[in-house]
Amino acid sequence: MSAAIVSLGRGIPRHILHNRQLEELLDTTHLWIKERTGIAERRVAGPDEDNLSLSLEACRQALRRAGMKGGDIGLIVVASATPDRLVPAMACTIQGELGARGPALDLNAGCSGFLYALAVAKGFLAEGLAERALVVGTETLTRIVDWRDRATCVLFGDGAAAALLAGCPEGEGILRVVLGAEGRGDGLIHAAGGGARMMASLRGGLAGEAGAFAEAIPFLGMECDGIYPFVRMQGRKVFRFAVETMCATLRELCAAESLSPREVDLVVPHQANSRIVEAAAERMGLPLQRFYLNIERYGNTSSASIPLALEEAARRNALREGDLVALLGFGAGLTWGGALLRWADGCDGGDPEEGGRGR
Ligand SMILES: CC(C)(COP(=O)(O)OP(=O)(O)OC[C@H]1O[C@@H](n2cnc3c(N)ncnc32)[C@H](O)[C@@H]1OP(=O)(O)O)[C@@H](O)C(=O)NCCC(=O)NCCS
Repeated sequence: MSAAIVSLGRGIPRHILHNRQLEELLDTTHLWIKERTGIAERRVAGPDEDNLSLSLEACRQALRRAGMKGGDIGLIVVASATPDRLVPAMACTIQGELGARGPALDLNAGCSGFLYALAVAKGFLAEGLAERALVVGTETLTRIVDWRDRATCVLFGDGAAAALLAGCPEGEGILRVVLGAEGRGDGLIHAAGGGARMMASLRGGLAGEAGAFAEAIPFLGMECDGIYPFVRMQGRKVFRFAVETMCATLRELCAAESLSPREVDLVVPHQANSRIVEAAAERMGLPLQRFYLNIERYGNTSSASIPLALEEAARRNALREGDLVALLGFGAGLTWGGALLRWADGCDGGDPEEGGRGR
């Protein structure tokens, strides 16, 4: 027993922030950003939007496209590096809002999050623990970047996308998933904001407030003022890691299925930087046309980037029945992952409400 993607949906913020607008805020230019990253604009969540609202929009679209209701879903896995809150998991709220059943959990695997979530859901389905699952990648990265840091803030954007998974026979759907992590690279992409250490620092003079407790629980009164809450990154090192990892992951995936990378019809990579993808394509000897890119319009949306690109590829008919599709991700952790899928008609994103082909 395996699992297949039955339908996809997306939820993207209304507001678009173009590089030209960033020129007015930062010492940067549209040309620099476009040439070094491929990004022209990104979506920014407004005050009335968050991961939950964007994820719900994505899940409802995926359900509609599959002709299903929330009650048909028995598992929800949400990948996010920027959850709206610490507790409870966003997946639980999504489950409640949709009227779904079964287990619900969030996970954080940096920009590889969607692939980790896909592997978790595939495992649950293969074990018979659920019949259908929603796998969501969602981020509001613009809320955790330092808008004074031109080297990082220009890269990221917000958005959510969801994949509806159902069980299928072995050899169909998701053929294989590979995952990895190298924790010694944990400092290369880092954001301390929102964690328990940061909370302790926010409480500032807690030692006084907590009185006797501060002695019994030393952490309560600790000084954390030195914590930098926003994303910081060693861009060049991440760039090299990303290129090497994408190539190695595709090779590993294909070798495990006795296939050649040349047999892959479409690669949907994590959209971090178009130059990373160009370098990886060249190193693998594959034409760039075989890589689906939409980074120009969304920037790096971390856990949401692969499903957002896959949803768009399906909706724009870049995929045909029987196509071999490789999803490749890498990110904070350091983490990486890949999935090889056999595309089936019906994952085409047709939505009767949008005038699509429907099912
Ligand atoms: C971030 C990244 C675009 C920077 O590109 P780069 O070619 O490595 O550039 P550098 O960091 O070496 O910086 C070169 C110069 O550009 C400057 N610069 C950085 N950001 C800039 C910006 N937005 N506008 C203008 N200049 C900028 C730097 O200050 C530096 O100036 P200096 O030479 O005077 O010191 C690139 O390293 C990258 O994409 N790395 C991968 C990051 C990533 O994908 N992370 C997420 C992974 S999930």
